[in-house]
Amino acid sequence: MQQPKLATFFDPATATVTHVVYDQPGGHAAIIDPVLDYDAKSGRTSSRSARQLLDFLHGQQLTLQWILETHAHADHLSAAAWLQQQAGGQIGIGSGIVQVQKIFQSVFNLGDDFATDGSQFDHLFADNEVFYIGKLQAKALFVPGHTPADMAYQIGDAVFVGDTLFMPDVGSARCDFPGGDAAMLYHSVRKLLSLPDSTRLFMCHDYPAKERPIAWESSVAEQKQHNIHLHAGIREADFVALRQARDATLEMPLLILPAIQVNIRAGRFPEAESNGVRYLKIPLDML
Ligand SMILES: [Fe+2]
Repeated sequence: MQQPKLATFFDPATATVTHVVYDQPGGHAAIIDPVLDYDAKSGRTSSRSARQLLDFLHGQQLTLQWILETHAHADHLSAAAWLQQQAGGQIGIGSGIVQVQKIFQSVFNLGDDFATDGSQFDHLFADNEVFYIGKLQAKALFVPGHTPADMAYQIGDAVFVGDTLFMPDVGSARCDFPGGDAAMLYHSVRKLLSLPDSTRLFMCHDYPAKERPIAWESSVAEQKQHNIHLHAGIREADFVALRQARDATLEMPLLILPAIQVNIRAGRFPEAESNGVRYLKIPLDML
């Protein structure tokens, strides 16, 4: 099986890791979890970070075939729509996104104008669905828990795990967003860690303690041995208790309100109002 070539970009503002996966220079690429910059103070968006991805595609003469979201992120806005406008490709996400859209249609009172059938995305992946990035074979793996709709993407010997596992010393993703479930995450991670020990695991975020530099690559063997929340041998009930206790201490992410409204629309903004300006909503006392 052909192994993927990789380029990784880290966004320090949101601690998000974006991976570009491709078969060969001059070939085909997928971009996983691209970030659109957003300044919460001014409401201003910028494609500065996403432009680096575009420059990389141009430098390697890559055709962008897929823009893959592991889930509807709550910590950053997706640059999927901007990238698609610039470079084409299909925007894909797990089919469970329809459930997330229904939850937030209600939270943001979006009414019937907002479709909750996933039609804002070009492709909804089913669990175990096989697809191709040029010559690379890829598979979508359903790994819910952080949200009800998370997908990991297995490409050759690499798995892009989204918000499931973090680096071994950081542990796991929170499970307290609407529709999240720590027991579900436990089973999703057991599924990932049942892959061969040498499988390379690529994170979507890193939040290291001060003394270590940012990292995003681990392996099944390393996670089974060292993950502080989910190493092999930890029992479901113990993980759920630990995760729930920790989640109870976490604040909402700074960008959850703008991010979710954009990300359930595949990275597009709401329609402009009569003055030509696009607006996002802030629900009071909901989250
Ligand atoms: Fe997330």
